Amino acid sequence: MKNRLKLRNVGFLWDLKEPLPEVRAKNKVTIRAAAPKDRERLRKIVVEAYLPEWSWWVRQIGGKERARADLMSYISEFLRDRKKRILVAEDGEKIIGFCGAAKHYRGTGTIGYGVAVLPGFRKRGIGSMLLLAALDWLKKSCVRFVKLEEETFGFANKDSPAILLYKSLGGKVISDQIFFTGTGMRRIRKTLPPTIPVRYT
Ligand SMILES: CC(C)(COP(=O)(O)OP(=O)(O)OC[C@H]1O[C@@H](n2cnc3c(N)ncnc32)[C@H](O)[C@@H]1OP(=O)(O)O)[C@@H](O)C(=O)NCCC(=O)NCCS
Repeated sequence: MKNRLKLRNVGFLWDLKEPLPEVRAKNKVTIRAAAPKDRERLRKIVVEAYLPEWSWWVRQIGGKERARADLMSYISEFLRDRKKRILVAEDGEKIIGFCGAAKHYRGTGTIGYGVAVLPGFRKRGIGSMLLLAALDWLKKSCVRFVKLEEETFGFANKDSPAILLYKSLGGKVISDQIFFTGTGMRRIRKTLPPTIPVRYT
């Protein structure tokens, strides 16, 4: 069990029939849809915005440059596809956070790799504004049910900021599992069955 971390893997579901809360940022930040010209600015911050919570994944994938390439291929796909969108938060000229959203079939959607904000800009409402902008875009596109594309992770002994953020903005936990990093990601416990039957009609 050496060098393995015990992690928690949590899936969320939003029903956009429920009203979305209002959130204001505690400083001046612009939220807008990203364009292909933002790719290089996103490349600069993309790994840092997932740290330190995802440092175990950066190690697992083989370091920062591999993580950057993986994240940029996901971002590039979102920038190309009209059914997908990256929302960015800007402070002046600097991109300080982002969130992806995608429309799928029959009124369903996903939140990309979750919301990510640069460490120096957290706890000011920016992650909430990004997630709400993503959910609002999906809602206006007639999407009702939204899940996380990749479930979010936290260390097993506490709720990560992302778990707290998703819960605070109406996300319902639909799966909650504990596993060890390392070969095979062996799942050792399943604590919750899906609680909300999803009917994509
Ligand atoms: C998760 C993350 C995006 C939150 O961004 P943020 O801008 O700090 O979030 P907000 O300021 O909008 O916080 C919203 C709520 O989330 C919760 N929250 C966020 N960070 C928290 C922290 N460090 N401790 C406790 N609660 C926290 C609080 O309930 C907070 O509401 P409050 O400020 O009214 O108490 C940010 O911590 C991050 O980028 N983490 C690394 C990337 C990541 O793990 N993303 C999820 C991938 S699935």
